[in-house]
Amino acid sequence: MCVNGVTASNASMALGSTDSVTLDGQLIEPQRPRYFMLHKPAGYVSATVDTAHPTALELLRGEPRFLDLQIAGRLDRDTTGLLLLTDDGDWNHRLTSPTRQCEKVYRVQLRDPLSPQAMAQLEAGVLLRGEQRPTRPARVALTDKTDWRQLLLTIHEGKYHQVKRMFAATGNLVLGLHRERIGGIALDPGLAPGEYRPLTATEVRSIA
Ligand code: URA
Repeated sequence: MCVNGVTASNASMALGSTDSVTLDGQLIEPQRPRYFMLHKPAGYVSATVDTAHPTALELLRGEPRFLDLQIAGRLDRDTTGLLLLTDDGDWNHRLTSPTRQCEKVYRVQLRDPLSPQAMAQLEAGVLLRGEQRPTRPARVALTDKTDWRQLLLTIHEGKYHQVKRMFAATGNLVLGLHRERIGGIALDPGLAPGEYRPLTATEVRSIA
């Protein structure tokens, strides 16, 4: 084994982030954790493998060992927006753990205009079909004061189909759903659907 071209006698030596390691002349990829944000397009499933549909993971196939990445907080096939992927299990757990209540912001397009009563229900917490307890209070912000079918919803949970079920509980239907932010990590406006980039150190550290 060589470190920076020099034969290493100690196999347990500490390595810096810029050290290059070769074994029999082959460069060895470092195993440090990786973190990415992907602008998920519609039509992709948040899964590692799927026989019927393309997977979000396939969009990162240019990355070495892309199949080792886990999706931190899934999106439905028809939902677009911010998807985070990592091979750091602890970080993923911190992000998705229900006890940490990491904030998530969704842009929502509804079939029917939101009524003031429905807004109050969502902000107080609604009982979803099949659940024992109501959702935690959400924040609702209209994005176009003349069209009450478009809004931003901020929630602190990640139950299965949560946003769609919340609006279903108020008698409405979600026609379009796009995730804009998770905690302190916002979808980079420079990423077109299907594009991704590594998270910055600040973004990684924001999930503490
Ligand atoms: N809530 C939903 O209903 N679907 C998603 O994809 C994400 C949150």
